[in-house]
Amino acid sequence: MLLTGKKVLIMGIRNKWSIAWGAAKSAYENGAEVLFTCSDMENVEKIKELISEIPNSKLYTCDAASDESISNCLEQVKSENGKIDGILHSIAHANTEDLRNDFIKTSRDGFAHASDISAYSLVAISRIAMEKELLNENASIVALTYYGSEKAVAGYNVMGVAKAALETSIKYLAKDLGEHTIRINAISAGPIKTLSAKGIKDFSSILNVVEEKAPLHKNVTTKEVGDAVTFLFSGMSSAITGEIIHVDNGFSTVGV
Ligand SMILES: NC(=O)c1ccc[n+]([C@@H]2O[C@H](COP(=O)([O-])OP(=O)(O)OC[C@H]3O[C@@H](n4cnc5c(N)ncnc54)[C@H](O)[C@@H]3O)[C@@H](O)[C@H]2O)c1
Repeated sequence: MLLTGKKVLIMGIRNKWSIAWGAAKSAYENGAEVLFTCSDMENVEKIKELISEIPNSKLYTCDAASDESISNCLEQVKSENGKIDGILHSIAHANTEDLRNDFIKTSRDGFAHASDISAYSLVAISRIAMEKELLNENASIVALTYYGSEKAVAGYNVMGVAKAALETSIKYLAKDLGEHTIRINAISAGPIKTLSAKGIKDFSSILNVVEEKAPLHKNVTTKEVGDAVTFLFSGMSSAITGEIIHVDNGFSTVGV
């Protein structure tokens, strides 16, 4: 099993449709001990019930908008579990009006909010994890991004700009973290019907286009994305850092 003896922190579990849940199940099935964080805005009791399906898993709360909250959370994770081997950043948010209106109407606050939660939080989590010496040697950080950072995808709007910032942050973080043997990468996942995705206008038509145009003519599952996260957590990817890996049935490789 790829992750035997490793502890991983999955940040951003909301429900059984979350990509975070697919990643957690894959990590567990590959031998990892799994810890979770969720936003304190979520139904914590319901999430506790869900994660009880994974033996010995634990849940912490963390507000990605606050360095203090991230710091308290990672402190608690370390004091209760010791050092860990992987972090999945599966966190994003934009205001609904910024996904519904034309991009040109994005407010200054909406732009800052989407960038703060969806991109800057990865920088803060990486920095605070290093300050707290939370990560073992050769640990791996993974984030989730989407094709809307590369091309203008109708309805993705400010989130596409935030994902572009996330992807470029990964390249700079890879340089800094590499000095300490830590790797960081992102998976650019194909569209999946999750609660976050429901905020995107006409999301079903995006799924239909992928099915029609992607070389493999299907949409991805949270299991497939989760298995790619497991690969990036594992020693099998020991020479990969600063990369954005598409797990999208090839959709991003197709022109017309
Ligand atoms: N669903 C897709 O089509 C798709 C495709 C590619 C990438 N992604 C990315 O995958 C990641 C997970 O999204 P998902 O689709 O599984 O949806 P989801 O709604 O299940 O997960 C999003 C998570 O972000 C968390 N979050 C939002 N604001 C937060 C805050 N202030 N502090 C802490 N947590 C906060 C939510 O609580 C939730 O757990 C996101 O980065 C998303 O952009 C999703």
